[in-house]
Amino acid sequence: MDHIIADAVDFVRETFRSDFSGHDASHTMRVYKTALRIAENEHADQTVVALAALLHDVDDIKLSPKTHREKARAVSFMQAHGLPAETVKTVCGIIEEVSFAGMDSVTPETIEGKCVQDADRLDAIGAVGIGRAFAYGGSHGRAMYDPAVAPTPDMDAKAYRQHKSTTINHFYEKLFLLKDMLNTKTAKAIAEQRDAFMHAFLEEFLREWEGLS
Ligand code: ADP
Ligand code: NI
Repeated sequence: MDHIIADAVDFVRETFRSDFSGHDASHTMRVYKTALRIAENEHADQTVVALAALLHDVDDIKLSPKTHREKARAVSFMQAHGLPAETVKTVCGIIEEVSFAGMDSVTPETIEGKCVQDADRLDAIGAVGIGRAFAYGGSHGRAMYDPAVAPTPDMDAKAYRQHKSTTINHFYEKLFLLKDMLNTKTAKAIAEQRDAFMHAFLEEFLREWEGLS
């Protein structure tokens, strides 16, 4: 199994070679490491968690709209490595469940899915999460902040995907909500510090914006 995981790491590096929007290979590598850390504590199947974490974004709708539905890249990687049909099905099921879709986000059925979803969400918060949000905002030509544009929390999947607002609003529309959407005790414990750091960052950002700090 080790060589399949090593190949999956190479496959991910190649797939995200030219993506710097906050959705790059380093994101997947952090999700992979964090997911394994959670899986160990939660007694989840390490192989399924490793494969789902490494392949969770290769058919992302933004990166690869044509393969998104069938998860063609993940499937062909796993089939080419001779993984059983059952494993391919389980991993694809987890990839489908993982993604954040506003109020339409789902709770994964398996503990393995819960570990991967938690790891993906943890990577959107804390210092790295802040960095990713501004990288995403910059690469999509968004303003950092506009006090005249109010945040829109409680969006469904379609509204969330089509929504265009400022990066600071993204904190209220997604990042501050994630702490309470985690599945596992292990992830909730990791989230405490990351969430507190984001709140401190936002307070300081707004003070500086107003010239008060
Ligand atoms: P993933 O699929 O890894 O959960 P997304 O594709 O939803 O993540 O987003 C990638 C990164 O960009 C995340 O860190 C997310 O918080 C950030 N991001 C997504 N939408 C916005 C936005 N409207 N403004 C700022 N950052 C965003
Ligand atoms: Ni992701």
